Amino acid sequence: MIEYQNVVKEYQDNGALIKAVDDLSLQVESGELVVLLGPSGCGKTTLLRLTNRLEDLTAGQILINGQNILEQDEVKLRQKIGYVIQEIGLFPNKTIAENIGMVPKIIGWSAERIEKRVQELLEMMNLDADLFKDRYPAQLSGGQRQRVGVARALAADPELLLMDEPFGAIDPINRKEIQDQFLHLQDKLQKTIIFVSHDIQEALKMGDKIALINNGQVVQFGTPEEILLEPANDFVQDFVGTERAMKALDLVQVTEIMHEVEYKYKGLAVQDALTWFRKKNNEYLLICNRDQKPLGYVSHQDLVDDYAAEAVIDDYIRDLYTVLHPQDTLKEALNVMVTNEVTTLCVVEEGALVGVVKFADLQDYLSKNYRREHQELKKA
Ligand SMILES: Nc1ncnc2c1ncn2[C@@H]1O[C@H](COP(=O)(O)OP(=O)(O)OP(=O)(O)O)[C@@H](O)[C@H]1O
Ligand SMILES: [Mg+2]
Repeated sequence: MIEYQNVVKEYQDNGALIKAVDDLSLQVESGELVVLLGPSGCGKTTLLRLTNRLEDLTAGQILINGQNILEQDEVKLRQKIGYVIQEIGLFPNKTIAENIGMVPKIIGWSAERIEKRVQELLEMMNLDADLFKDRYPAQLSGGQRQRVGVARALAADPELLLMDEPFGAIDPINRKEIQDQFLHLQDKLQKTIIFVSHDIQEALKMGDKIALINNGQVVQFGTPEEILLEPANDFVQDFVGTERAMKALDLVQVTEIMHEVEYKYKGLAVQDALTWFRKKNNEYLLICNRDQKPLGYVSHQDLVDDYAAEAVIDDYIRDLYTVLHPQDTLKEALNVMVTNEVTTLCVVEEGALVGVVKFADLQDYLSKNYRREHQELKKA
């Protein structure tokens, strides 16, 4: 969808030559969210400004959908691109609703349609539309203004979004919520997005891919896992920071390490359960109902004492307390295990069992990554 080919941007500054972007090549696929990550001054904002022609290229080419941006009408190009600028940049003499509705109005949407869209976007950004739509930017906090800036970029439903640190001024709690909502929306809309950040955690969470940039060049381009676990050089390693194995836990969903588990249905005779325990040499047996909903487990120990000849296991079922869901990460799994002092957790989707995750599986995963990190250090 977007192709940067040997892009160069130079500035003359009092006779000194500044290479803000230095022979940068990068390809962004349609529907992908790519995070540009890198230190202050490395050229991130410049790259976005070149993309919508707010700056002129010194050399190289930028193609959008295979078409050179220089061959497109500048104004039309910008209308097709949603841009959240780093300084937010709302018009101070227009209301919030007018700010958000600006591009839709220019391209001829009806007043009614715009109003509905403004409402919808403000709510998505956790802002009460009735409270905010008629206010002016100066009557909002910095974080609220930033959210309006994101709403405005999304307004006319552009296929391409350039977002320059869009959540930088928002407090951690609201930021997490807006990141989650934004990812949820992106799951549905599959927009092509270039997202600038200098926060590694945000990049790992938001990016399908991360382009790590330094001195106007791409140092490494890859998935969050590749950046974390296979850093190309010392710069990437320093930028990613310590505890790479722990950070990786946050990227991997429990479905990647879960496995199948044997279970029995409610109503099983205690005799049969005891036979099973003897055969399998297990301590616990998971019990489900006929819809595969996990009800709890029975402990071998509980059955060994006395019981009536006709007894069924139903009276011996212990509660599960808590379960995981497929989208939970390994970090969440570890957290649940530690806080509940359990070593096995069921993964449940729409009420039904899909597998289990054991503490030992997490250990395996961590030690595999640790070994990898360790070997790289030895190599270095
Ligand atoms: N108009 C300009 N004239 C001269 N130099 C400029 C100009 N605009 C940007 N630069 C320089 O180009 C380099 C890249 O700037 P850019 O704004 O792209 O950085 P950035 O990666 O977005 O940084 P930050 O994370 O701080 O926003 C910097 O060294 C900056 O000083
Ligand atoms: Mg910048």
